Amino acid sequence: MKSVNTAAVILAAGKGTRMRSKTPKVLQNLAGRPLITYVIEGAQSAGCSSVIIVDNAEQAIQAGLQSVNDVNFVVQDPPLGTGHAVLQAMPSLSKNTQHVLIMYGDVPLISVETLKMLQEAHLRSKAVLTFATAKLDSRPPYGRIIRDANGMATSIVEHKDATDDQKKINEYNVGLYLVESSFLKEALSQLTQKNVQGEYYLTDLVAIASKGQYRIETIHIDDALEWQGINTHADLAILEKRVLSDRVKKWQLAGVRFENPEQVYLDEEVKLSPDVLIQGPCRIQGCSIIESDVVIEMGCVIKETRIAKNSHIKAHSYLEYSYIGESCSVGPFAHLRPGSDLANQVKVGNFVEIKKSKLGDGSKVSHLSYLGDALIGAGVNIGCGTITCNYDGYNKFQTVIEDGVFIGSDSQLVAPVTIGENAFVGAGSTITKNVSAGSLAVARSDQREIAGWAEKFKTKASRKQSKSK
Ligand code: UD1
Ligand code: CA
Repeated sequence: MKSVNTAAVILAAGKGTRMRSKTPKVLQNLAGRPLITYVIEGAQSAGCSSVIIVDNAEQAIQAGLQSVNDVNFVVQDPPLGTGHAVLQAMPSLSKNTQHVLIMYGDVPLISVETLKMLQEAHLRSKAVLTFATAKLDSRPPYGRIIRDANGMATSIVEHKDATDDQKKINEYNVGLYLVESSFLKEALSQLTQKNVQGEYYLTDLVAIASKGQYRIETIHIDDALEWQGINTHADLAILEKRVLSDRVKKWQLAGVRFENPEQVYLDEEVKLSPDVLIQGPCRIQGCSIIESDVVIEMGCVIKETRIAKNSHIKAHSYLEYSYIGESCSVGPFAHLRPGSDLANQVKVGNFVEIKKSKLGDGSKVSHLSYLGDALIGAGVNIGCGTITCNYDGYNKFQTVIEDGVFIGSDSQLVAPVTIGENAFVGAGSTITKNVSAGSLAVARSDQREIAGWAEKFKTKASRKQSKSK
């Protein structure tokens, strides 16, 4: 729409009370971002040179859209109807605006194809007003399209104003309009509040154009979800399902296999590769990158994480802000917290938590361990139940474990501490001092043995018991 200078006005001043939420309706999250951003993006990708959002005095939509560029806001106070809302935006239009695209902020899935179709019909017919309609067999409380004997649209009657006969009409107003700007200016000044709701209806533009014998054009939308508005969390869930299934379909066409496609949540920025296998219900968020031949089992949550090829993420693992090299195995039930950095062929087993730590090629931490602020070399074996004691309540300290080290089970490494190359730490040790390369460090009390102790203990204990009876 660049060549014809079209501005977009997005209406969002309605109160949205049916969401019953402290978050304004149009800022509710739809598959990863505020639902009004879908409308803004639609208008921008259809080539609108400016986008004006009509807000009410209380919602502060602007504050919730900090990362959105090239959008202006106007306030409608008090909201007196959709026609009144558009009127508030008029002073913000630049002088050379030829056409105004009007959209509703709570109708997020209007496609760019539909917007292009609207524009083509509008320009081809030289209409002053082109708008979208749809046929539905159900009887929603939307505006009905009134047509004359020649099939030309002559007005829109709102549900609340419709007669019983008009309510039988099954062609509805979608809420998507492209209007020639000088006509719009003139027609808005003619709107009245003479209707059941006492509002300035934008929909009255159709009757005004028809009476003035201006050309009116309509287009049709077949897909009911495309123009479904969001009023409740139930509506939001239906549209979110659609958005997510479209995302999954896109990746299926790119060679990704989903065993449970309906239960996978993917953010828009996620990048998947051919031959990735996503088995279960799972959530992959942010700029996560999953390389080829990676398997993700059920119940995993993956945020802002890169997983290199051929790695296997087992069930119920939670990975955030981490890097996983090639051919690694993680989980089941592993937690990689921010800054976990695994080289290739690393194994992280069940009930292991890692934070801000590097593990070199082929290292293993197979069971029940916590590694925080640790720098771990290649070929290291961390025994079951190992803990890096990295925090004294005030500061964090680093643990360095060099290549080839073997840490025996149930050891605590009190940081700052370094375990030299190829050293061994005996099971059950509490290591507080550096261990030099190649040595064995054992830090636990020596085992004593008292011969015949058990028999003596039992005799004494049973005598005591019979006395007290
Ligand atoms: C509107 C249409 C109706 C259409 C239906 C489709 C009008 C008069 N009616 O009805 O023909 O079938 O959408 O969903 O336009 N808004 C403002 N300021 C206001 C009032 C509303 O900005 O004073 C905004 C709302 O935030 C919303 C949009 O305009 O984004 C539509 O308003 P809403 O009250 O939902 O209109 P409907 O009664 O659903
Ligand atoms: Ca509505």
